[in-house]
Amino acid sequence: MIQFLLNDTPIEVEECSPSLTILDWLRTKKGKMGTKEGCATGDCGACTILVGEEKTNLNGNPVWHYQTMNSCLLLLGNAHAKHIVTVEAVTAGLYPTLNDLHPVQRALVECHGSQCGFCTPGIIMSMLALYINNPSYPGKKAAIHALGGNLCRCTGYSPILLAVEKAYSYERKNEPYSALAAQFKASLNTQYDDDVPFLKNGPRKFYLPQNAKQLVELKALYPQAHLVAGGTDFAIELNQNMLLPDVIISLSQAKELCTLSDNNGELHIGAALPYSQFVDAFYTYYPESKELFERLGSNQVRNSGTLGGSIGNASPIGDPAPLLIALNATMDLLSAAGTRTINVADYFIDYKKTVIKSDEVISKITVPNRPDSLKLACHKISKRFEDDISTVCLVLAIEQTQGVISNARCAMGGMAAIPKRAAHIEQKLNTQPLEVSTFIDAANGINDDFAPMSDVRSSAHYRTTVSKNLLQRIGIEFCGAQPSSNNNNNNIAITRISHASL
Ligand SMILES: Cc1cc2nc3c(=O)[nH]c(=O)nc-3n(C[C@H](O)[C@H](O)[C@H](O)COP(=O)(O)OP(=O)(O)OC[C@H]3O[C@@H](n4cnc5c(N)ncnc54)[C@H](O)[C@@H]3O)c2cc1C
Ligand code: FES
Ligand code: FES
Repeated sequence: MIQFLLNDTPIEVEECSPSLTILDWLRTKKGKMGTKEGCATGDCGACTILVGEEKTNLNGNPVWHYQTMNSCLLLLGNAHAKHIVTVEAVTAGLYPTLNDLHPVQRALVECHGSQCGFCTPGIIMSMLALYINNPSYPGKKAAIHALGGNLCRCTGYSPILLAVEKAYSYERKNEPYSALAAQFKASLNTQYDDDVPFLKNGPRKFYLPQNAKQLVELKALYPQAHLVAGGTDFAIELNQNMLLPDVIISLSQAKELCTLSDNNGELHIGAALPYSQFVDAFYTYYPESKELFERLGSNQVRNSGTLGGSIGNASPIGDPAPLLIALNATMDLLSAAGTRTINVADYFIDYKKTVIKSDEVISKITVPNRPDSLKLACHKISKRFEDDISTVCLVLAIEQTQGVISNARCAMGGMAAIPKRAAHIEQKLNTQPLEVSTFIDAANGINDDFAPMSDVRSSAHYRTTVSKNLLQRIGIEFCGAQPSSNNNNNNIAITRISHASL
């Protein structure tokens, strides 16, 4: 059985399709139609809900933390012990007057932030999360960030962004949900500390192991089981390819896989810990990685998606892999037989083929200490700034001693069937002077390392050209030189990569 709180109602479910998403459950089993389905792939945000989870604050006290997620990607089983808040809970009355509306709703009305209204419930939930988590208006940049995963096809974003600010001009409404959630948590059936919460539908099962021991035992018992963590890739398979797996094992609550520790600058990141819960630690040592993590999907996706899911999915266009490879990160593969540690770079074999065995799960990613002289550059080229998959992702890390480059590690996504190191480029950088011309020369090695394909995102020619330009740009940035707009050296045009122009 799984148990969670839906708005103000405790829910217990046992008999249910293991692959049912919260969105489908809300709409087909609960008749809650406020949460909309636009795309079922995490791209539109119409299905946004709040998911509350008990955390411990700095004083060691339990607090409930609310975040947005795409309910079209969240499996019902993953809601166990959580508080699911839908748009129906935002206003208590069925036919509220303007003054009964929550400040975010009232502001959206007064700023004319809704026309057809299809996106509106999702937008309200994203505004609400921002409002709950920020006692004062956090600024336009934060507002854009919070709404990056919500598409509106008719109103235009200016009135919506104005409404985010305006909501703070009314009398503040305190977050009313956590007291209810705490009551629910206290009543939660604690026998599930020892047993595994589950869902079943005939022979089909969903298991939610609560620790690593339960997890590896289940994986040994069901080697063909589908693993899921945040579900931001897996649920798309369910929704688009109508997969009906017999057994799903969710890693999302296996406590050892959801931890973060900082061992004097060496980061140990649990494979099932969502991005939003570890990126701040990452930025402490590698602030350059903001370019990738802040632009990875949307807030909703970052609140669910995990490193284990990204690497486990083995997509050639996943952004974390090039970063982790360039930083020489390692990963732990856990099974009932024990743990083996490998370099992230050695995980990928061919398109969607990896070295993982059927009884193993990725349990942890270790990011080493930052070397003193490390210079790091992360670049993501995509058609849209917010919530878009990379056309090319390039990460370059070098060290230098007295102006000579060493330990160059260059990894790229979108350029091959797997996230891959650029051996020739690295060779051309190592032992060379830290000068722009070194990078221009190395950029010419791109065709020795990669033969990218053309697809809907871009042509092979574009991918090669933009990669060369990025390497040249990195050279300019690393060497502190000023970019020139008309440098025909080696026939590489130096372009300031502006997202607006891509
Ligand atoms: C709208 C949208 C935008 C996105 N934008 C980006 C983007 O900009 N950049 C980017 O890189 N990605 C992006 N993604 C992809 C996705 O969010 C990431 O790959 C995410 O990290 C997947 O994590 P997850 O926990 O949700 O994986 P899940 O969907 O839970 O799992 C994905 C796969 O990995 C396997 N798996 C999960 N955990 C483990 C584990 N611990 N061990 C072994 N196998 C495991 C599962 O079996 C499954 O096959 C986007 C996705 C969506 C829906
Ligand atoms: S329905 Fe579009 S993001 Fe979920
Ligand atoms: S109001 Fe129509 S999609 Fe936003």
